[in-house]
Amino acid sequence: MSHLENLVLKIWRQNGPGDAGRFQSYRIDRISDEASFLEMLDVLNEKLIGEGLEAITFDHDCREGICGTCSLMIDGRAHGPQKGTATCQLHMRMFKSGDTIVVEPWRATAFPIIKDLMVDRSAFDRIIESGGFITASTGGAPEANLTPVPKPVADAAMDAAECIGCGACVAACPNGAANLFAAAKVSHLNLLPQGQAERWSRVQAMVESMDDYFGSCTNHGECEAACPKEISIDFIALMHSDYLKAKIKDRKLISQQ
Ligand code: FES
Repeated sequence: MSHLENLVLKIWRQNGPGDAGRFQSYRIDRISDEASFLEMLDVLNEKLIGEGLEAITFDHDCREGICGTCSLMIDGRAHGPQKGTATCQLHMRMFKSGDTIVVEPWRATAFPIIKDLMVDRSAFDRIIESGGFITASTGGAPEANLTPVPKPVADAAMDAAECIGCGACVAACPNGAANLFAAAKVSHLNLLPQGQAERWSRVQAMVESMDDYFGSCTNHGECEAACPKEISIDFIALMHSDYLKAKIKDRKLISQQ
């Protein structure tokens, strides 16, 4: 284990949604290269509190790449320099002594800043509320082999279900579009047999809810590059395909034949 010295952190500080905000520089030393990026921020916060200053507000929960709450733009890249890695799993060995690291919140109209590095991502909740579920009577779990699922379909559904809803796709997109998030959430249900009953109403509701809050996709592909779970933009094509089918006149009649 070695330590990083003389790190300069340029961190976005903003008192609340109405505040203009500004960058503030902090110097920090003796950071273990085994520390995670969030642990490094913890050390900085302890130092600030010890000096009687206000700690930096940032989101986190599981710190193991599952919950999707960590959300930092590090040196202009969502979740920082390591591909396929959430901020909480980024380690300080990716940096070196003397580095200046710029840390910002997600920048997107649909994600207003609450304070410092924390943003409000409840626009994602509106998309999920509109159709990101299946409606089924509860009861005992059925025998799994009663509903066979082809292996490639199960694999694709699980790939989509890896989305942790962090919002990196939106932050990385020049249009602030949420197509990768919505596509992952639509696809993991629309691919599986259990999701078929609401397939067409789900995709319409979720795409239209997405359009209420987020920008439009123009195929930049930045979302796929920024995604900590490396979710493929192929799911966006699948979502668009399902949306078009759902919009076919008399779709309901066709599906009942
Ligand atoms: S803190 Fe849960 S994914 Fe990073």
